[in-house]
Amino acid sequence: MIKKLFEWLLSPMGRVAVLIGALSVFSLAAYGIYTTQQPPEQPIAFRHDIHVNLGVQCLYCHPGALRGASPGLPTQNKCWGCHQQIAKTNTSPRLAVLKDYVQNNKPVQWVPVAQVPDFVHFKHRPHIAAGLNCETCHGDMSKVEIAENPQVMNMGWCLNCHRDRTADNVQNNPDNDPGVSALLHEKRTKLTDCGTCHY
Ligand code: HEC
Ligand code: HEC
Ligand code: HEC
Ligand code: HEC
Ligand code: HEC
Repeated sequence: MIKKLFEWLLSPMGRVAVLIGALSVFSLAAYGIYTTQQPPEQPIAFRHDIHVNLGVQCLYCHPGALRGASPGLPTQNKCWGCHQQIAKTNTSPRLAVLKDYVQNNKPVQWVPVAQVPDFVHFKHRPHIAAGLNCETCHGDMSKVEIAENPQVMNMGWCLNCHRDRTADNVQNNPDNDPGVSALLHEKRTKLTDCGTCHY
């Protein structure tokens, strides 16, 4: 069904429809950018800046970015590993909330911020393997109080980077090697193919 839809979208009629669709989505997108940049109300006012500046690694709390299907968000027990000690001296009301979750064994329902729609396939692993940093896509989390999406993760954003990284230019192919050229061309075809991100 989805496959048929994408085939149709590639036909001349489909392209016109996409153009009209794009124009009408434009004003909605402007509103979307505004709303997605407002940080949501989280169950616990967790601050990245405090924890990242303490030297806690991203992968300690989001280990799935390297291994699993998705980075994952930490459970209250992971937090409690450190906060059980801290709670004895720090009586901040924000920590009282955490204690309540732990004592009642209630899972914390974090509100997702960075998200792409279901019909888009994104995996962290190949991106990390290609040498990209968390910061490239998520911004500098050591300056973030309550997480918000630093940039809109839309199709243009994905495609721009895929094109940049596969362009046959001095940056990607400094020696102008024909072998590298062919490889870049092959990668570009794959990384800009509809079926790579939608299937
Ligand atoms: C590696 C240890 C560690 C982990 C894991 C950790 N924290 Fe913290 N957290 C700290 C330290 C240290 C502070 C600073 C404490 C202080 O200033 O007294 C802190 C501060 C905080 C504060 C601010 C408290 C205030 O003064 O307002 C909150 C809220 C908080 N953490 C929540 C969490 C939550 C929720 C998690 C799990 C997602 C978590 N922490 C995981 C070590 C940790
Ligand atoms: C102590 C645990 C902890 C550490 C360390 C940590 N995070 Fe997080 N992160 C969380 C929690 C809890 C949430 C969910 C609440 C929120 O969105 O603020 C989260 C949410 C996020 C989100 C938004 C996720 C979503 O659902 O949309 C991103 C992106 C993120 N973290 C990236 C990072 C990066 C990059 C680093 C390292 C620079 C990092 N985190 C370090 C605990 C942590
Ligand atoms: C190439 C860009 C890119 C890089 C690099 C990247 N991310 Fe993400 N991240 C995304 C996108 C896109 C999403 C939304 C994925 C989705 O909705 O399935 C996301 C979602 C997340 C989430 C929320 C997903 C969840 O499991 O709830 C966390 C947490 C996160 N990233 C952490 C990290 C960490 C930690 C790193 C570095 C190890 C990292 N990301 C590197 C693009 C990136
Ligand atoms: C900052 C750059 C950057 C951004 C942003 C980015 N990508 Fe990528 N993407 C890459 C690189 C680099 C590779 C690996 C290319 C290679 O094979 O060497 C890759 C590979 C992929 C692959 C192929 C993985 C495989 O199995 O070979 C998919 C699928 C993908 N990206 C989807 C996305 C989607 C969807 C988005 C947007 C939500 C996105 N990417 C955003 C740089 C990026
Ligand atoms: C590198 C990954 C990537 C590739 C390649 C890609 N898309 Fe997308 N596409 C996305 C993402 C991410 C979204 C979600 C956009 C958003 O949330 O604004 C999307 C959304 C869409 C939508 C929904 C309309 C909308 O704006 O929300 C359509 C239709 C679509 N893509 C068609 C295509 C077609 C046709 C191709 C091939 C010419 C293609 N895509 C190639 C990542 C990709």
